[in-house]
Amino acid sequence: MKDYKRYLITSALPYANGPLHIGHLAGVYVPSDIYTRYLRLRGRDVIHVCGSDEHGVPITIKAKQEGVTPRQIVDRYHELNKSSFEKFGISFDIYARTSSPVHYETASEIFKTLYDKGEFIEKSTPQYYDKEAGQFLADRYIQGTCPRCGNENAYGDQCENCGTSLNATDLINPRSALSGASPVLKETRHWFLPLDKYEPFLKKWILEEKKHWKPNVYGQCKSWLDHGLQPRAVSRDLGWGVPLPLDNTEGKVLYVWFDAPIGYISATKELTPDWEKYWKDKETRMIHFIGKDNIVFHCIVFPSVLNAEGTFILPDNVPANEFLNLENDKISTSRNWAVWLHEYLDDFPGKQDVLRYVLCANAPETKDNDFTWKDFQARNNNELVAIYGNFVNRAIVLTHKYFKGIVPGKGELTEYDREVLAGIPGIRQALENNLEQFRFREALKEAMNLARLGNKYLADTEPWKIFKTDPDRVKTILNISLQISASLSVITMPFLPDAAFRLMEFLNIDNIAWDRVGEDDLIGEGHEIGSGGLLFEKVTDEEVEKQVAKLLASRNNNKLPPSALVPPKENISYEQFSAMDIRTGTITGAERVPKTKKLLKLTIDTGIDTRTVVSGIAGCFEPDAITGRQVSVLVNLEPRKIRGIESQGMILMAEDPEGNLIFISPEESVENGSVIK
Ligand code: MF3
Ligand code: ZN
Repeated sequence: MKDYKRYLITSALPYANGPLHIGHLAGVYVPSDIYTRYLRLRGRDVIHVCGSDEHGVPITIKAKQEGVTPRQIVDRYHELNKSSFEKFGISFDIYARTSSPVHYETASEIFKTLYDKGEFIEKSTPQYYDKEAGQFLADRYIQGTCPRCGNENAYGDQCENCGTSLNATDLINPRSALSGASPVLKETRHWFLPLDKYEPFLKKWILEEKKHWKPNVYGQCKSWLDHGLQPRAVSRDLGWGVPLPLDNTEGKVLYVWFDAPIGYISATKELTPDWEKYWKDKETRMIHFIGKDNIVFHCIVFPSVLNAEGTFILPDNVPANEFLNLENDKISTSRNWAVWLHEYLDDFPGKQDVLRYVLCANAPETKDNDFTWKDFQARNNNELVAIYGNFVNRAIVLTHKYFKGIVPGKGELTEYDREVLAGIPGIRQALENNLEQFRFREALKEAMNLARLGNKYLADTEPWKIFKTDPDRVKTILNISLQISASLSVITMPFLPDAAFRLMEFLNIDNIAWDRVGEDDLIGEGHEIGSGGLLFEKVTDEEVEKQVAKLLASRNNNKLPPSALVPPKENISYEQFSAMDIRTGTITGAERVPKTKKLLKLTIDTGIDTRTVVSGIAGCFEPDAITGRQVSVLVNLEPRKIRGIESQGMILMAEDPEGNLIFISPEESVENGSVIK
């Protein structure tokens, strides 16, 4: 693997509109922290930057919900998240914020450079406008159906279901998230980044040169590039954000996804006057750690900006993770379905490593994964306590018992001793290979394999049984066990920094260089070890039950905030209502629309005729399970092509605030074609 002069690690800047939860940690911050600690241990020049993303519609929406200013929201969550990260041991070199003056300057400058180079397309286009609220509806202020996958709750800038990046005018059936009203189109002037023009650059840079990216990341990029890119507005009509650095642009700010990634640059500037070497020297390796919903912005949009600007390096890798679920359900801030980091830190003081361990062992690296409290307990009790803790504890206790805590010397080694010692460099090598390819679960397994090796060594050699008859042999066994323990304190450091540090204290040793892992004289004969202690404690049934109960209570108490319900719409006339022709019909066939997650192609007997309807219900229903069902069909909806299939009508469904779909069916079976009114 090519070695670089220095490393710049970035972690996605979390929105300062809510507290951090385990999904954030598993997706981004645990892996990025492991990686950074590893590089530091290997003596590399590395910085790890992060901070709060303080602009964008999620923040103004939250402020509005609470009746406070956006500034109050970001101040609150910036402090909370910064201190939670710190207590949890995520070792950023800086945790900056995008409301800082340095950031405003940096973001404005980059925009200005692109502007002066004539990169932007400036044009007036119709944008959605909410007449009641008297404002333009940017990004999350507008929702509608995704043209790509049929998700009915896609946002104006992105569909979170299929990851597609959207323009608000792409949405089908757009509605205002402020009032629920159907928005009107109104002309407004904006600046567009010509992504279509950058396609040749992106194709070469990603499709040809980034074949080593994770398949999920490469695949998403390829799919966007195959579909073709379009110019994207990088300005917004909003009162919160970095003001557009141009004359006569009152009321306009930079699009949050234009300014936020620049936050990595401004954070580096705030960290060190020497920031340019991290951003402008080809010998720096930049790596963006992100969640999968951020891929387009980090792989397509931001690199396009950097490349157009011309003086910055581009990321070498973007190891994006999939999502973590919680107890078989999507983590959701609005539904309060989450394990909140600040609460975990209160409920499990001193157990940061346990959560790091579980989130890494179960990381959603290649597919979405599930966190359960049962698994948390099992991994702690059966792995950390029973393997790592148990081995180290036995080695230390026996050394005290037989040799008063003084490291005994080795005698002649047996074949088995040699084999065990010889196994360590291989473990280290495998761990390094895995980490270098961002396979954190596998890397952690290797670290635990070393603890397993030690545990097995003690179980096989049984020093407690032979001390009376062969004390010299016991000297060798314990010496080797302590060497393994010392190696363990080094290679678990990136994953379990707190435990590794305490282990060093137990052994009374100082930092050992990473490259020495596996040597058989890390701790010398005659060295006095510390008094030891317990590295890990069992998690009890009560503790786990308490957490599960807390989750369930939050679900039961969770009266959805009024904003989660779709707001009432404006009145319509009776004529408008009666213009709709709704009939009973029977689904006579159903199949998935290839390459979509949500769409089913239904064949429906409407009594009048047999027709095809494409419906976004595949997330909730299996094709076979719904064939034969009677449903309500809007039969005079103008036909529309969806994914190349002409859809001739619409099935009526109830959608609860959690997004579950329920058929609206006649209570008793009636003749197809009966009128619903
Ligand atoms: N705030 C965004 C999110 O939570 C991530 C921003 S990453 C950055 O999805 F690069 F833009 F800062
Ligand atoms: Zn979609």
